[in-house]
Amino acid sequence: AHFWLRGQTREHPVEFDAERGMWIITGHAEVLAALSDPTRFLSNLSSAFPDTVDMSFNEGNLIQMDGDAHRKLRRLVSNAFTPKVVADLAPRIAELTGELLDAVDGQEEIELVAALAYPLPVIVIAELLGVPASDRELFRQWVDVLFENPQAFSLNDDQEKLKEDFAEQTTVLKPMTEYLIGHAAERRRAPRQDLLTRLVQAEVDGQRLSDTEVVNFAGLLLVAGHITTTMLLGNTVLCLDSFPDQAERVRADRSLVPTAIEESLRMLSPFATTARVTAEDVELAGRVIPEGQLVLPMLGAANRDPRQFDRPQEFDPARDPNPHIAFGRGAHFCLGAPLARLEGRIAVNLLLDRFPAMRTIPGRPPTFMASPDMTGVNALPLRVT
Ligand code: HEM
Repeated sequence: AHFWLRGQTREHPVEFDAERGMWIITGHAEVLAALSDPTRFLSNLSSAFPDTVDMSFNEGNLIQMDGDAHRKLRRLVSNAFTPKVVADLAPRIAELTGELLDAVDGQEEIELVAALAYPLPVIVIAELLGVPASDRELFRQWVDVLFENPQAFSLNDDQEKLKEDFAEQTTVLKPMTEYLIGHAAERRRAPRQDLLTRLVQAEVDGQRLSDTEVVNFAGLLLVAGHITTTMLLGNTVLCLDSFPDQAERVRADRSLVPTAIEESLRMLSPFATTARVTAEDVELAGRVIPEGQLVLPMLGAANRDPRQFDRPQEFDPARDPNPHIAFGRGAHFCLGAPLARLEGRIAVNLLLDRFPAMRTIPGRPPTFMASPDMTGVNALPLRVT
């Protein structure tokens, strides 16, 4: 029950949380206003933590950059990470999904995350970048230390703990940085047909990315590019299982798969929240947020705002329009959204083909990711025959 209620709205769409010393935005219109105003709501959080944070990790980490530097880098990486690059992956994604499902063929029960929802996106992102997919145990470890231990980084921590989290994040990610530096250096010497090569070669106005930028951006893709899609796949199957009549509709009419995926993103938004710092005093929904404050735009809550969505607690696979903001909005809109959507559509269709009768198992409920920043299943046992 706790899991499904993560998107609950608060009394007022903009509230100061005195205990944690930060502002919580839960209204859809208000979250949208914050995300659409990147000059007053900054993504680089260092100004809220002036004396603690080693921000070297931020160079090239798009998600934490602002202004011209962000615009320029985003243009540069977009040149390498085009819609065509993503669309061309479709046959490979279908093939991989087929192979992963073949591996559990004939079993009465499967655990969806281990069988498909984790390996599929991580193999896809590894192949896209051009790092060995066989290193995926390593990638999993980095994600786990980031998000899945009790001391892990969480935007929902109080300010003191958050300072420690930020410092810790840099240390924790050192092995990943070193790993990627090695691969990037190799691509400079010997270019290949992969995204890492495109990144070391990409140019805007005659300028190339620095090594740090390449590595931090590749690291962002590696982390943000797989665990979120894992959550999307698991959550979509969980939504279908929890609303069996709706699942029947989708099974019978596959043209509903894309809208069902959007509805899953709305109901169980993988990133429950993102973060900003105010660059000046900002008025929002009648409240004034002072300059330099940490602000959490709660995507999951906004996606259940009854002022925006009819029947917000119902999974409607045909919901249209569905202006959810699970991929954010504006300058930082998720660069990987086309890839996540493509993987979602292919995987959900193939799952429905292979396992039309899949259901959760009484007495063996799913488990959920520990981090309150994330909304996703960790393990989802299914009976498939
Ligand atoms: C940004 C969600 C999959 C790469 C974002 C943001 C959100 C998000 C909410 C904006 C954060 C903010 O404004 O502070 C998701 C969800 C995914 C997903 C829900 C899956 C269901 C992916 C994938 C990739 C990716 C597959 C890469 C292959 C990125 C990057 C950014 C980003 C690079 C930063 C863009 C920028 O700051 O300009 N994502 N993401 N994401 N995402 Fe995703």
